[in-house]
Amino acid sequence: GYEWADVAALGPDVAGRAVRVRGAAHAVRAVGRRVAFLVLRQGSSTVQCVVGGGGGGGGGGDAGVARFAAGLSRESVVDVAGVVSLPREPVRGTTQQEVEIQVKKLYCISKATPNLPISVDDAARSEEDVVKAKAAGEQLVHVGQDKRLDFRVIDLRTPANQAIFRVQCEIENIFRQVLLSEGFVGIHTPKLIGGSSEGGAAVFKLDYNGQPACLAQSPQLHKQMAICGGFERVFEVGPVFRAEDSNTHRHLCEFVGLDMEMAIKDHYSEVCDVVDRLFVAMFDHLNKNCAKELEAINRQYPFKPLKYLPKTLRIEYDEGIRMLKEAGVHVEAMGDLNTESEKKLGELVHTKYDTDFYMLCRYPSAVRPFYTMPCSDDPRYSNSFDVFVRGEEIISGAQRVHVPEVLARQAEERGIDVGSIAAYVDAFRYGAPPHGGFGVGLERVVMLFCGLGNIRKASLFPRDPRRLNP
Ligand code: 4AD
Repeated sequence: GYEWADVAALGPDVAGRAVRVRGAAHAVRAVGRRVAFLVLRQGSSTVQCVVGGGGGGGGGGDAGVARFAAGLSRESVVDVAGVVSLPREPVRGTTQQEVEIQVKKLYCISKATPNLPISVDDAARSEEDVVKAKAAGEQLVHVGQDKRLDFRVIDLRTPANQAIFRVQCEIENIFRQVLLSEGFVGIHTPKLIGGSSEGGAAVFKLDYNGQPACLAQSPQLHKQMAICGGFERVFEVGPVFRAEDSNTHRHLCEFVGLDMEMAIKDHYSEVCDVVDRLFVAMFDHLNKNCAKELEAINRQYPFKPLKYLPKTLRIEYDEGIRMLKEAGVHVEAMGDLNTESEKKLGELVHTKYDTDFYMLCRYPSAVRPFYTMPCSDDPRYSNSFDVFVRGEEIISGAQRVHVPEVLARQAEERGIDVGSIAAYVDAFRYGAPPHGGFGVGLERVVMLFCGLGNIRKASLFPRDPRRLNP
């Protein structure tokens, strides 16, 4: 009777137990003709299996099994049945160093091709490792990001990648949990829509049974219509499509949007308050409960822990512009900040306030989408905000116009065909409360919290202007 066991659960406390474990042949090494060492990997956990060697301290089984083990191609899926034992000294290069398995039986469940296009070890190497090895005169393979993405199913097996997608899952989970605890209802809005939701050219057009249509650039219009439908607070987690045409480190053509929308009583700062509670809770949670994952990511992609304040810093756009000008950065009056200025402002804020996470509020109306509410005291500005992590935008949010005439006028002023969004504008003719909300890109949060430097690393199978595969 061999009992199924997980590699991560193998420790000295189960020594002597007969176990059966399924995993990938991470590494195989023959010692002479009678013994083979097989490192078995499950997720991010690895354990050494000793095959052959006959009785004594060896694995038991016969030389035939050892030969079979030695011939296994890396990454093949195998079952080993054997006894957990305590090695004389900790096994180097495995996560379960305190134990090994003396193998009695070995089965190959799925044979991997012997000519793997990339190896997990090569893909798991950090740039630093490669630089160090080069300096020491060693030849190390460095697999570029494009090739890793081409063979993503192998690339995903590295400890850093296993960790990145657990962190991503936690972020999504906290988003839901915090909003549910604050009375929000999860909704799903259509992704096939008749007109562009954010304006601009970045929209995938398609033919909807003879009618022009497009893939939703955000749930914006329909999440607001849910508010018109009597839901006071809604959120959505779903795909967002942007026909981006430039290749950058932070733009995908499809990403996961975390959106919310809520009725507000007095002021759009009520929306900012939710951002504050949500993200401080999220960062606290990640630091507390994902320490192992963050460490695995840090080993391959070194990053500094994110600095954030218990109450998130809010500064006004004008103040941000002043800080940039004082630092000698040229910025257009009442213009949008480009990536470079945003990054620079992030550094200035970090130096002055000791935080990598802050909100910039009260943007000029001209640089915000048509549905944004202008400030009542000065309509050149708007009740809007962006949120930055390490000087890069992760959120944009605002109070929305709930007066249909103003909405139609603002759309027209921006060259949007009001006919294509008529049902949306009409939704506000039947009674609609003041409301606001925000949208976050999930992959951006992962990328910036973990300092990954490229959004493709935070997407399981990224879609960028050039990549539709795998
Ligand atoms: O700033 P965006 O375009 O705002 C909206 O979609 C609004 N409807 C949100 C709202 O409720 N006011 O997108 C929101 C967020 C950005 O802050 C960014 O994190 C992410 O979505 N994002 C992208 N992520 C990856 N690739 C892209 N091409 C992205 N474009 C935006």
